[in-house]
Formats: sequence, structure tokens, C-alpha cells
Amino acid sequence: MIVAIDGPAGAGKSTVASRLAERLGFRYLDTGAMYRALTWLAMHDGIDLGEGDRLGELARASRVELDESGRVSIAGSDVTSAIRQSRIDRMVPVVARHPEVREVMRERQRELAEQGDAVIEGRDIGTVVCPDADVKVYLVADRRVREERRQAERPDIGADALATDLRARDDSDRARMQPAADALEIDTSDLDVDDVVDRIEAIVRQRSARHLSVGGVDRSFPTDERAEPARPDDGTASGA
Ligand code: DC
Repeated sequence: MIVAIDGPAGAGKSTVASRLAERLGFRYLDTGAMYRALTWLAMHDGIDLGEGDRLGELARASRVELDESGRVSIAGSDVTSAIRQSRIDRMVPVVARHPEVREVMRERQRELAEQGDAVIEGRDIGTVVCPDADVKVYLVADRRVREERRQAERPDIGADALATDLRARDDSDRARMQPAADALEIDTSDLDVDDVVDRIEAIVRQRSARHLSVGGVDRSFPTDERAEPARPDDGTASGA
């Protein structure tokens, strides 16, 4: 089963997606980390970030490795912390917008998705990478809340610079940030992480039970007493 979690920076995707994956016993795939790692390598190698062809070649030649403990590496370097620096925040949209880069990344992401149960976090998972995902969620939050969350993660940057960066990234990401028509949109501005995770978990368990009763194929996963009965309309609301 594939659970797609999309949404803009600061909407809470990483925290929600990793906690959900842990509860379900699914793999957690952070596709943003793949674009970040490539950006780190391109800057490290002094490649012009305007050259889509070269960046696409670099992406094809240098596979990003995501291990189970959340470590990220590329071309033999562990870049787990380095990819969270503000210089990467600023440059990653420049790299991610090249079609040559996206083609390679999406191919890799689909290969990873084909390996079985996963919670996949990104911008275009429910629309392009896994349009047949079993559950699609689009997380949103007020800009102010998103800025505060980013500030907590990047205490070294001033609030004004951070707000400017976030706005620039939103503008640049917008083309890839449309929710899938069949995604459930959740506004996380006033919700605790666990409330959001509870809600998605209930939908996943409901879908999984439906697969079992309809298809007869065993796609089950470990049960958890905390699961709540899902509301009948869960997962069908339009996120558009
Ligand atoms: O989620 P994040 O902030 O780590 O993502 C980093 C950048 O990568 C973001 O600016 C948009 C881009 N991205 C993308 O274009 N497609 C994805 N599936 C994931 C991230």
C-alpha cells in the first residue's frame, strides 16, 4: 500500500509522514531529501545550477541512498545534516525545477514505491509519481504557522530572511504543488502531529480492510489499538 503525503514547506509533512510510517510499519520515503542531496552534490562539484542537462546526468550517475534510520547519502558522502542548511533550502527549487532532474528522480521514486508498503512524502507524489496511491493526503497550514515551524528548525536564520525564503520557495514550487483531485486536504495549523497522524492512520486501515474484503489479496499490516474507526467520508474529500 502506498500513502502519498504532499504539501508545501512547513505544512508538517516530514513529522507526520515519518510518524505514520513508524506506526504502520511501512517504509518512509522523503523525496525532498533526494532533491536536496542532488543540490548539495551539484554545489559541491561547482556545477552551474541553470544547466538542466548536466544536472540530469549528475542525478542519473549519482543515486541518492536513503537508509532505514533516515540517513541520506550521495556519491559516497553522508549529507544528512548538510542538506538541511539554509543555502540548500534556497537553491533546491532551482535544481528541482529542471525537467531532466525530475525525470530521473521520479523514475527512482517509482522504483522505490514498487518495493512495497511505504509512506511517501513530497510535492507531486499523489499527482505524478504515484497517481494510483491508495491514500493521498495534502497537508496545508497558514503561512505564519509554517514560518514558525521553519524557524524552529533553522534557529540560525533571522525571521525576515526566513519568511522571504519561504515565499520564494512557495512561488517556485507552486507548479508542482497542486493537490491531486482525489487527495484529502488537512489543515495542520491548529492540530497536534498525533491528531493528524491518527486521522490518516484511520483512513489507511479502513482502505486496507476494504482491499482485504474486496480483492481477497493479503495487503494487511500490523494492527494497532490506537486506530480509530474512520468516518465514512474520510479520504474522499476533494483537495482542489
Ligand atoms: O520537502 P522539502 O522542503 O525537503 O523539499 C525540498 C525541495 O524539493 C522543495 O523546494 C521542492 C522540491 N521537491 C519537489 O520538487 N518534488 C518533490 N517530490 C519533493 C520535493
